[in-house]
Amino acid sequence: MRNLIDTIDLSVSEIENLIETALDIEANPVKYQGKASYKKLATLFFEPSTRTRLSFETAMLDLGGNVIGFSEASSSSSSKGESLRDTVRTVGCYADIIAMRHPLEGSAKYATKTAGIPIVNAGDGGHCHPTQTLIDLLTIRKHMGDFSGLTVGLCGDLKNGRTVHSLVSAMSRYENVKFCFIAPEKLAMPDYIKHGINGLDYSETTDLSQAITDLDVLYMTRVQGERFEDKAEYESLKDIYILDEEKMSLAKEKMVVLHPLPRVNEITVGVDSDSRAKYFDQVRNGKFIRMAVILKLLSDNGNDKEISTVDAVCTNPSCITNDQREPEHKAFIDENGDMRCLYCEQKI
Ligand code: NCD
Repeated sequence: MRNLIDTIDLSVSEIENLIETALDIEANPVKYQGKASYKKLATLFFEPSTRTRLSFETAMLDLGGNVIGFSEASSSSSSKGESLRDTVRTVGCYADIIAMRHPLEGSAKYATKTAGIPIVNAGDGGHCHPTQTLIDLLTIRKHMGDFSGLTVGLCGDLKNGRTVHSLVSAMSRYENVKFCFIAPEKLAMPDYIKHGINGLDYSETTDLSQAITDLDVLYMTRVQGERFEDKAEYESLKDIYILDEEKMSLAKEKMVVLHPLPRVNEITVGVDSDSRAKYFDQVRNGKFIRMAVILKLLSDNGNDKEISTVDAVCTNPSCITNDQREPEHKAFIDENGDMRCLYCEQKI
């Protein structure tokens, strides 16, 4: 059984196939009607969502399948103290596939241990969000063609923004992609992502106006208020980057602006009418990609990649293993010889 926990679970050819399928679904929707009939998708959302949950549900309905689930933790038995392990094991008795979002890092991987049906990670805390990345890649493909040779700027909360982590992991597998990480030190890209990009070129800066001139893609993100313990720190950082028409006038004519949404203040409404603004195209692409992902996981009889592990307790307070009773603590050794939690990937 295959799960989709992060983009690293997919080979480049699988990513390409998913993009091709999504394009075909968009062009020939009738061909896909009924492809998932009598199948059930469970959407387990322990954290708020508009686009991700609704696009997963619409995707399943357009494939002729059915949808069950909950949109907040308070309406599930987790509010009575049920463990994630037991909740997903229960849902695995009813549904054929789960899309889940949870505030703790590593939760989706942890859920794969007992679900018994494929899990798609729809966001696990500040860790990763692979289906958003597939949407981002489809949108870039439509507007820029090939990924190779692109200079991609990622701006905002690179520390807590799970979408940028998954996007960098995926794009670093294409040739000659250059990254520019635009963030203040307190919101900088985590080391485990920078280590994973395999010697590819990246730069770091705090200056959006200076960096924007070289970019082919600018990926804006929201400062993730819900991940801050210190609310005063959030207040001091939340409006640090605001993309407006003046900054857009410095950018290349063919640059595309992406944002996973929701936006708060980081892109002014004036930018929406700029032909380079593609964030509502991303929203539209979400349904096609999620239809492709559901079809793939429902029909894939393979297994997740095996990874050898050792027993070790994770020290990350935001890791799922530090929230659950009797958790299974597991770690793996990365290419640099560092020990990392199997679920949240933080260094132990
Ligand atoms: C993102 C998320 O939930 O990580 N939204 C989304 O899924 N489209 C981005 C965010 O919340 O800032």
